[in-house]
Amino acid sequence: MGRLFVFLVILLNVGVMMRCNGGKTSVYVRQVDKTIDMPLDSDVFCLPPGYNAPQQVHITQGVIDGTAVIVSWVTPDEPGSSLVVYWPENTTKKKVAEGKLRTYTFFKYTSGFIYYCTIRKLEHSTKYYYEVGIGNTTREFWFITPPPVGPDVPYTFGLIGDLGQSYDSNRTLTHYENNPLKGGAVLFVGDLSYADNYPNHDNVRWDTWGRFVERNLAYQPWIWTAGNHEIDFAPEIGETKPFKPYTNRYHVPYKASGSTEPFWYSIKRASAYIIVLSSYSAYGKYTPQYKWLEDELPKVNRTETPWLIILMHSPWYNSYNYHYMEGETMRVMYEPWFVQYKVDVVFAGHVHAYERSERISNVAYNIINGQCNPIVDQSAPVYITIGDGGNLEGLATNMTEPQPSYSAYREASFGHAMFDIKNRTHAYYVWHRNQDGYAVEADKMWFFNRHWHPVDDSTTADS
Ligand SMILES: [Fe+2]
Repeated sequence: MGRLFVFLVILLNVGVMMRCNGGKTSVYVRQVDKTIDMPLDSDVFCLPPGYNAPQQVHITQGVIDGTAVIVSWVTPDEPGSSLVVYWPENTTKKKVAEGKLRTYTFFKYTSGFIYYCTIRKLEHSTKYYYEVGIGNTTREFWFITPPPVGPDVPYTFGLIGDLGQSYDSNRTLTHYENNPLKGGAVLFVGDLSYADNYPNHDNVRWDTWGRFVERNLAYQPWIWTAGNHEIDFAPEIGETKPFKPYTNRYHVPYKASGSTEPFWYSIKRASAYIIVLSSYSAYGKYTPQYKWLEDELPKVNRTETPWLIILMHSPWYNSYNYHYMEGETMRVMYEPWFVQYKVDVVFAGHVHAYERSERISNVAYNIINGQCNPIVDQSAPVYITIGDGGNLEGLATNMTEPQPSYSAYREASFGHAMFDIKNRTHAYYVWHRNQDGYAVEADKMWFFNRHWHPVDDSTTADS
């Protein structure tokens, strides 16, 4: 009996230790309403007044250093003006840039007239106003260009993924807009409209999504990553060209970084070097994406841009039972590079929940040595899954148990995050859940830069 008691005490202690090592699974209890899309007559989808008025206005960064902006919009009824009129604040001298126009068809759907126009040679840290449209349907917006690229330039990025167009999506966007940190640009980790969940991939839902997000996208750039819901591959209705609606509607500056496809590219913004990768393009050895990334990583000058951030859609480290190990083949190909080049953080989406890892790597395995466990590695990035934008597919609530030791925090709630770079050594990262007030921080971490301050920044070591 005495021995049994001692055995039970030891077992209990081992159990407690295992829980301590496994990071935190939030016990936050959320509302479990079904996630449904907003109906077509919702106010967030309403048309701007006037015949053929420009709609779905959005901007993204236009060149590597942030001195250009790509403006895009749609006129629904007929071709209109492809001109963008723009001028810096406090001047009256207006400039004009001419864009291009395109349309596309998808099964029985024909798009409106989609314009995209790159405005170049902009001054840094300057507020610009711009107009699109003709006569009484002219619409005016503004944006602020980023500061010059440099090592200690502070900058605040928002992080949103898998947004969709549900009531929860609207809450996520509203929370981001009201975040007291005030993001200057959004790093979007893929899955935009979820139009492909509708019969025949009803592309009307691409239009409604464009009108829904215009209230933010017309005023600050979103940096795009392609997700699986951008593939829109539908051979049963004759649509065999992947990414057709996405590439027609959301232009990215991929050629500026030597990329040959819009699905992988890089930009610099303030003190950050951002590399966008494609989980849904070939990434094996000898492929265009592989060769591009192999050439790209050595180009990152951490003296100019200390923060190396990578975006992708399908996460490599994911302890939910949804999309489990889907990112594994890409991890096998690229993880040694991420460790070699000391990537600070990798943001992914796809799993409709939130998770943050410790700094870990799993690169020792070579088929025969059996060394296939993630290990703590201070040269490795933190992996963050932020696919909790709120789309109609709902939350991923089912987690693998026990929580792996590398998983620092996980919670099945909708929300968004901010990456607030202070200088070359420190960045403040915070995740917000939609049920809280705008300023409430649900998970947070001080990032120490891997090049300039590579000391242990783990949050569970001292918890
Ligand atoms: Fe996805």
